[in-house]
Amino acid sequence: MTTKAPVHITLTGAAGQIGYSTLFRIASGEMLGKDQPIVLRLLEIDAALQALEGVAMELDDCSFPLLADIVTTSDLKTAFDGTSWALLVGSIPRKAGMERGDLLKTNGGIFGPQGKAINDHAGSEVRVVVVGNPCNTNCLIARTNAPDVPAERFFAMTRLDQNRGEALLAKRSGAPVAEVKQVGIWGNHSATQFPDFENATIGGKPAQEVIGDEEWLQGDFLKTVQQRGAAIIAARGSSSAASAGSALIDSVKSIVNPTAPGDFASLAVVSRGEYGIPEGLQFGFPVISDGSSWKIVEGLEHSDFAKEKIKVTTDELLAEREEIKDLL
Ligand code: NAD
Ligand code: LMR
Repeated sequence: MTTKAPVHITLTGAAGQIGYSTLFRIASGEMLGKDQPIVLRLLEIDAALQALEGVAMELDDCSFPLLADIVTTSDLKTAFDGTSWALLVGSIPRKAGMERGDLLKTNGGIFGPQGKAINDHAGSEVRVVVVGNPCNTNCLIARTNAPDVPAERFFAMTRLDQNRGEALLAKRSGAPVAEVKQVGIWGNHSATQFPDFENATIGGKPAQEVIGDEEWLQGDFLKTVQQRGAAIIAARGSSSAASAGSALIDSVKSIVNPTAPGDFASLAVVSRGEYGIPEGLQFGFPVISDGSSWKIVEGLEHSDFAKEKIKVTTDELLAEREEIKDLL
C-alpha cells in the first residue's frame, strides 16, 4: 500500500478518442508511477457529459488501485480546482485536406478561458501540457491567460513527432528503436516542423553517418514525419489517438523524470530567445530535465539546410501568433 497523497490530474475532452485511449493508462500508473495515487478530474462540454459518465463507469470497472476518485464536469473551476496536471486535449480535430493551423479559429477560443481557470484555481505547482491543435499556439493562448503561472510550466506536445522520427530512423537503419536518441523536433507541431536528424544518434553514432543517405534524410524522412498526422487521418478516417495518448504520457514522464544521458525530449516550451527564436513563442525544442526543472539543450549545430527549415517553422508560428493576437 502506498502512503502518498493523491495527485490531481485534469484531462479535457475526456470523452474523446484521445481521452479514451489515455485515461486507462494514466489510471494504471503508467504516467506518474505505480506508487502514485491519482484523482482524475475530467472536463467535457455539456453535450458529451453522458458519454463521459460511460468512460468514468469503465474506469471504475477496472478497479485500478491507484485511482482514488473521478470527478466529471463541464465546469472549468471544478475541472482545474487544485490540479497538478492540466492535460488540455479537448478541442476539434482536423479532417482530411485541412492543416492543423486551419483549426485556430475553431479551437483558439477554448484555451483563453481554460488558461484563466488554471490561473485562478489550479494547484500552485500546476503543469500544463497542450495537445489540442494547433497545439503550440493554443498553448501560447492558455499561457498568456494564466499570468500568475510561470511560463516554464506550459508545454505543447511535439513528442509524437519525435516518436515518429525515432521509429522511422530505426526502421531505415535496422537498429532497435531504443538505440535512436536525440531526435529533437524544432518549431511547430505542423507540416513545417523540423525533425532534426543532424543531431540524432543511432547506437551512439551520428544518424547521418549510420543512414548514409542525406537525400533520404532531407527528403522522405522529413516529409514523412511532417505529414504523418495527415497520413493517419487518410488511413484511419480519424486522427491519431492511441499514439497521441502514448506521446502525452511520454511528455509528462520526460518532464518529471531526469533525462537519460545522451538523450533529449522534444517539447514545445516558451522561447527566451534561444537559437535566435523570437521571445515568447511556444516553440518546439530539444529539452533535458533533471526531474524538477528543465532546460533547452545548448550548443547544437545546424547546417544551412536546417537553419532554413527552422526559419520557415518560426515564420509560421509568428503568423499564427498574429492571427490570434486578440486572444492574448
Ligand atoms: P475527439 O473529437 O475524439 O475528442 C475531443 C473531445 O473534446 C470531444 O469529446 C469534445 O466533446 C471535447 N471538447 C470539445 N470542446 C471542448 C471544450 N471546450 N472543453 C472540453 N472538451 C471539449 O478528438 P481527439 O481525437 O481526442 O483529438 C483532440 C485534439 O487533439 C484535436 O485538436 C487533435 O487535433 C489534437 N491532437 C494533437 C496531437 C499532437 O500531437 N499535438 C495528436 C493527436 C491529436
Ligand atoms: C497528429 O500529428 O497525428 C495530430 O496532430 C493530429 C493531426 O491532425 O495530424
